[in-house]
Amino acid sequence: MNSLQAKNFLCFSPISFLFYGLAIICLTSTNVSASYDGNETDYLALLSFKSKITHDPYKVLTSWNHSFHFCDWSGISCGKRHKRVNALQLNSQGLEGSLSPHVGNLSFLREISLENNSFQGTIPHELGRLSRLRRLHLNINKFSGVIPTNLSGCSNLKDLWLALNNLSGSIPKEMSLLSKLSRLVIQDNNLTGGIPTFLGNITSMEVFTARRNPFGGSIPDTLGVWKSLTVFYSGDCNLYGRIPHSIFNLSLLVNFSLAENHLSGSLPSEIGSQLPNLELLQLRNNELTGVLPPSLSNCSKLGLLEMGDNNFSGKLTIDFSKLRYINKIQLSNNNFHGRGEVDDMKFIDSLKNCSRLVRLELANCRFIGVLPTSIGNLSEQLISLHLGGNQLFGSIPSSIGSLVGLILLDLESNRFKGKIPSSIGKLQKMQFLTLISNQLSRPIIDDIGNLSLLTKLYLYSNKIEGHIPLSLGNCKELNGLALRYNRLSGKIPKQILQLPSLTNFLDLSFNSLSGSIPSEIKDLKMLSYLDLSYYNLSGTITSSLGECISLTMLNLRGNQFQGIIPSSLSSLGGLGVFDISQNNLSGKIPQFLDKWNSLEFLNISFNDFEGKVPVTGVFANASAFSVLGNNRLCGGSVTLELPECKEKGSKKKRFPFFISVIVIAPTLFIVLCCVYSFCKKKRNGKPSQSSGNERFLKVSYNQLLKATDGFSVENLIGEGGFSSVYKGILNCDDDDDRFVAVKVLHLQNQGAHKSFLAECEVWLNIPHRNLLKIITSCSSVDFQGNDFKALVYEFMPNGSVHDWLHSSENTSKLNLIQRINILRDVATALDYIHNRCQTMIIHGDLKPSNILLDNDMVAYVGDFDLARLLSADSVGLIPICWRQRQLQNSYS
Ligand SMILES: *[C@@H]1O[C@H](CO)[C@@H](O)[C@H](O)[C@H]1NC(C)=O
Ligand SMILES: *[C@@H]1O[C@H](CO)[C@@H](O)[C@H](O)[C@H]1NC(C)=O
Ligand SMILES: *[C@@H]1O[C@H](CO)[C@@H](O)[C@H](O)[C@H]1NC(C)=O
Ligand SMILES: *[C@@H]1O[C@H](CO)[C@@H](O)[C@H](O)[C@H]1NC(C)=O
Ligand SMILES: *[C@@H]1O[C@H](CO)[C@@H](O)[C@H](O)[C@H]1NC(C)=O
Ligand SMILES: *[C@@H]1O[C@H](CO)[C@@H](O)[C@H](O)[C@H]1NC(C)=O
Ligand SMILES: *[C@@H]1O[C@H](CO)[C@@H](O)[C@H](O)[C@H]1NC(C)=O
Ligand SMILES: *[C@@H]1O[C@H](CO)[C@@H](O)[C@H](O)[C@H]1NC(C)=O
Ligand SMILES: *[C@@H]1O[C@H](CO)[C@@H](O)[C@H](O)[C@H]1NC(C)=O
Repeated sequence: MNSLQAKNFLCFSPISFLFYGLAIICLTSTNVSASYDGNETDYLALLSFKSKITHDPYKVLTSWNHSFHFCDWSGISCGKRHKRVNALQLNSQGLEGSLSPHVGNLSFLREISLENNSFQGTIPHELGRLSRLRRLHLNINKFSGVIPTNLSGCSNLKDLWLALNNLSGSIPKEMSLLSKLSRLVIQDNNLTGGIPTFLGNITSMEVFTARRNPFGGSIPDTLGVWKSLTVFYSGDCNLYGRIPHSIFNLSLLVNFSLAENHLSGSLPSEIGSQLPNLELLQLRNNELTGVLPPSLSNCSKLGLLEMGDNNFSGKLTIDFSKLRYINKIQLSNNNFHGRGEVDDMKFIDSLKNCSRLVRLELANCRFIGVLPTSIGNLSEQLISLHLGGNQLFGSIPSSIGSLVGLILLDLESNRFKGKIPSSIGKLQKMQFLTLISNQLSRPIIDDIGNLSLLTKLYLYSNKIEGHIPLSLGNCKELNGLALRYNRLSGKIPKQILQLPSLTNFLDLSFNSLSGSIPSEIKDLKMLSYLDLSYYNLSGTITSSLGECISLTMLNLRGNQFQGIIPSSLSSLGGLGVFDISQNNLSGKIPQFLDKWNSLEFLNISFNDFEGKVPVTGVFANASAFSVLGNNRLCGGSVTLELPECKEKGSKKKRFPFFISVIVIAPTLFIVLCCVYSFCKKKRNGKPSQSSGNERFLKVSYNQLLKATDGFSVENLIGEGGFSSVYKGILNCDDDDDRFVAVKVLHLQNQGAHKSFLAECEVWLNIPHRNLLKIITSCSSVDFQGNDFKALVYEFMPNGSVHDWLHSSENTSKLNLIQRINILRDVATALDYIHNRCQTMIIHGDLKPSNILLDNDMVAYVGDFDLARLLSADSVGLIPICWRQRQLQNSYS
């Protein structure tokens, strides 16, 4: 019931006057039915808005209920007279959901502010019905799709804020009809199609921020009619071409940024007088050319000037003295050298009135000249000063010590001579100091230790003499110290090594320091990068280096270290680069080196190491290591072309047979029994964990995988129906690496399993000096969970008789004596298995490819795949004949 109905009611019945009065009282005293008072359309539209909200973390919409008139709902404002909704303001309420199209029914709306929520979906085109709307603020949401063309219906719109959404497509042409639009904020979307010419028709534009959209194209000349424009941000918009000169006619411009585009051409010389109100001028990272107009000296309101990373040229002649509010000057990476002049730095004098200057970035500007003492008159607010990569000469003015606010000082890659001024010790806030690549010669001042907040000190590539100052130990925040390429002498002060903060890098390489590495190095437990190369160090490598467990790079190259690599270094498993080349180190290559998984480069060249070069880990990749210039090494991968290592086994051969038998035979006997039961178990299909004897060589699938480089094709030396044979290098924990042939059974083939058992049995029963030695067997599962069986033989370096007979290279080399010896060896073996073992064995597949030759051309009969044992209960018999040597090889 509304008042109009009440009036009609009154006309029909005088008695109803009373009711009318009651009704009035009713309506004014309670709001229960108030939702229906005012406009039903608005009410329904708001309910629809609410219904589209899926998450309301602050419960802001719970007040949107029947108990209140919608004009009292939170976020809603109504006109005083007509009680229609004129503002919907729900910024930063964490709302999720979509924006109901029914909002387009709120025809009295002047403002929609839904910034910083999580609205998604499209912006409903029904909003275009809101002809009274002045402000549409939808920044920081997740709206996607295009900007609706219908928005042009919002003919009174002044603010269109759509920044930080996921909008795509181009700016619709109809936008040019928004004749009152003054603030178009569309930055950080995915808008394309260029900045359109027709935007120039919106003459009321004051703020245009479009940065970080992939617009493309060039800046239209028509924007020059935006006479009221104060803010123009179109950085990172993929814009090409010149900046139209009409833009420089926008004299009210305050903030002007076109950074990070591909703009070319030069700036008008009058820019300073054309744009006198500039506070921010940001054209960095473009391809602008010409001089930086001196008229900028007249932009007295300028706070930020970023023109770096362009191709500006010519002497820098801006007089900064009127720029009292300047806060940041960034001109790095241009070419400001004035032809034929050596006083490029005169402009520094004019900076003394810039009392608010905080950052001065003038690196790589090709300045030539002396750094004026007036550098010390710069603002005490200055926190970073970049002058690196110029050609500044003379000495570093001691006035620099007046810049007490400095946190970062970059004077690197200039031609400064003489000493580091001791006044630098006054820069108490300094954290990052780089003077690299100059010609500084005098000793490092002790005052450097006054910089208690210093975190990084780069002094490399100078000619600095004298000692490393002990006072550096006072820089308790220091995490990186680079003194490389200087002329420093003396010892490494242990004060530096005791800085717990030193975690990043310590580079003292290429100096004339001497002595050994102090044992205090162990305190650098968190240090990542240690370079002591070409340092003139001597003595042995201290074992305490093994406590620097965080090292990822260790370079000790080019010193005079002697002795062995201490075993304590085995804890440095995190190393990626390890270089100890060009020293006088000796001993064996430590076992742990090939187990460091992170090691990408190892250089032990030009030392005096001896023994076997491993082939696994870093040694598996020829380009990842160098062992050059160690004359006593052997083995390693074939590409190294080192001599073969003398096998332990062949040495043993020299021992008189009987001594070996007496000493070793009883032990072997026991082992053999255990091995035998191992084989037997397998035959019964039961999983076997180990041979039961700790001293017997155990190999896992994983070890064999490693030994054969993942059963790689390069290592495949033979293939048959039941098996493939790979060569490999087996690394046993406490033994040297050993060359082996690994025969992997093709278990999927019928009969493979049987041949495995046959070989196993033969091996158990009939070790003989002319029968191929099996070192061990492996019965396991592979990583895919399939059964895996392999036999590991001693590797026969001279291949098979078949190879010798049929390969063109070797034929001539088998002389008569050798052939007779081979025949004798084979005959001995056959006689043995046929007649002298308790169990008679028939080989069943004797052929030249099954006769293998060792280093000394002794022949061995192998491949007992098809062998048959002719005694029914042979497996129950204890082997009676053996030869110690082959089993000797089974021990560590
Ligand atoms: C209506 O909103 C008020 C104010 O937030 C609240 O106290 C009340 O519980 C709400 N009523 C209902 C039925 O949700
Ligand atoms: C409100 O808007 C919706 C969608 O735009 C429309 O379907 C509906 O008819 C409108 N309701 C009223 C009462 O105007
Ligand atoms: C922009 O204005 C010009 C001249 O006033 C007019 O010719 C042109 O059609 C307008 N462009 C658009 C897209 O409205
Ligand atoms: C800049 O404005 C002046 C005066 O209003 C006008 O004469 C000149 O043509 C304009 N220049 C450009 C490039 O629009
Ligand atoms: C700065 O403005 C003054 C007054 O307009 C003018 O005389 C002077 O030449 C301008 N300076 C530069 C460097 O353009
Ligand atoms: C620079 O500052 C000094 C003293 O603060 C003042 O006398 C001088 O006028 C200023 N120069 C300019 C160009 O503003
Ligand atoms: C510049 O600094 C020096 C000291 O470095 C001081 O003597 C001189 O007065 C300063 N000049 C001005 C103009 O502040
Ligand atoms: C550095 O500290 C020492 C000792 O506190 C002091 O004597 C010296 O003057 C300081 N140097 C500078 C440049 O402040
Ligand atoms: C290398 O060390 C050996 C002793 O290990 C020593 O005899 C030899 O002189 C050293 N060579 C050099 C160049 O220091």
